[in-house]
Amino acid sequence: MQTNHPIVLLLIMLPLMGTSCFRGGENEYKRYNHFQPGKVWLDNDSIHINAHGGGILVRGDTYYWFGEHKTAGRHGNRALVGIGCYSSKDLYNWTNEGIVLAVSQDTASEIIQGCLMERPKVVFNESTGKYVMWFHLELKGQEYTAARTGLAVSDHVTGPYTYIRSFRPNAGTWPMGFTEAQKNRIDNTSLEWWTEPWELAVVDGSLARRDFNAGQMSRDMTVYVDDDGKAYHVHASEENLTLHISLLTEDYLDFEETWTRVLPAGHNEAPAIFKTDGKYYMITSGCTGWAPNAARLSVADQLLGPWEYLGNPCVGEGADLTFDSQSTFVLPVPGKKDTFIFMADRWKPTNPINGRYVWLPIRLETGQPVIAWHDAWDLSIFDQ
Ligand code: GAL
Repeated sequence: MQTNHPIVLLLIMLPLMGTSCFRGGENEYKRYNHFQPGKVWLDNDSIHINAHGGGILVRGDTYYWFGEHKTAGRHGNRALVGIGCYSSKDLYNWTNEGIVLAVSQDTASEIIQGCLMERPKVVFNESTGKYVMWFHLELKGQEYTAARTGLAVSDHVTGPYTYIRSFRPNAGTWPMGFTEAQKNRIDNTSLEWWTEPWELAVVDGSLARRDFNAGQMSRDMTVYVDDDGKAYHVHASEENLTLHISLLTEDYLDFEETWTRVLPAGHNEAPAIFKTDGKYYMITSGCTGWAPNAARLSVADQLLGPWEYLGNPCVGEGADLTFDSQSTFVLPVPGKKDTFIFMADRWKPTNPINGRYVWLPIRLETGQPVIAWHDAWDLSIFDQ
């Protein structure tokens, strides 16, 4: 049987699509004029938006929200359908643009149904005119051991995206500032984890040395395009202990040989980056899987570092667990100077399709980004 025939594919997808629609109970979609963090958020079809671990690309007067399409039940975190996209003109009301990168039914494909595709981020390359999607890929049946970054490309923002390849980045290249001594150090691989000598070795680069030939691990990730058009791939590496920031090639389709280690042994993931007043800020989380922990804010004068840890940007009740959520993206609101929305996921690991979105305004007036809880808010908050 030919499995790539459209009718055969539809028959395979139908039962999955049934489980992939989380309706907001009796709620019917009515136009929104505000955000309600943590509440069911209906799309134009009255279905809870399904775009987890997402990111937003702005094109013209339209926002495009890309995210993981989750399904119901205990396997719902696996990629059973693909990466979805929604569009909006106002950030409150979202139209389902469908699955833009579908999982494959081909057993030889790296994105075969049942793999893990997480935290997709799409950027537009001005010089090639291509939409470039990077995402965290874990190969089917291998849990989180593959730790690869995946790449897909399209000529159209709403796809379809063509899957290109996945890999562990920066194979055979050393990070910026690595000394000859660090490059040549012979590591004691029997050090017990979470001891001081082990931590010092990680800070010194023992895991980056371990993965020098095969390429560096790449899990939670984001892509950041700077004002000069240069794009950077930011990912949790070294067993989630150290973040890596890597310069992408001019076409955004590959890694240059320029990369840096950030907050070594700091145990950060879920990175989201924004820039204001000449400074780069990064919000991350600690590493506690689907369970929330306290967000972390770091600052740098240059994207490639050095980065300095500042503390928890969240304030008020719930701040110690990031209001029961984990960072995924920071959106600069176009046309409003120094206006940023913190986007986070409230994961529901036993029924992932029910995962919620926590979007909150970032306040800058104290000189340092601050995030406080709001039951409901709208963009006029930035005019106050
Ligand atoms: C989280 C991570 C998610 C997902 C999850 C799996 O820490 O941020 O994207 O990978 O772990 O347990």
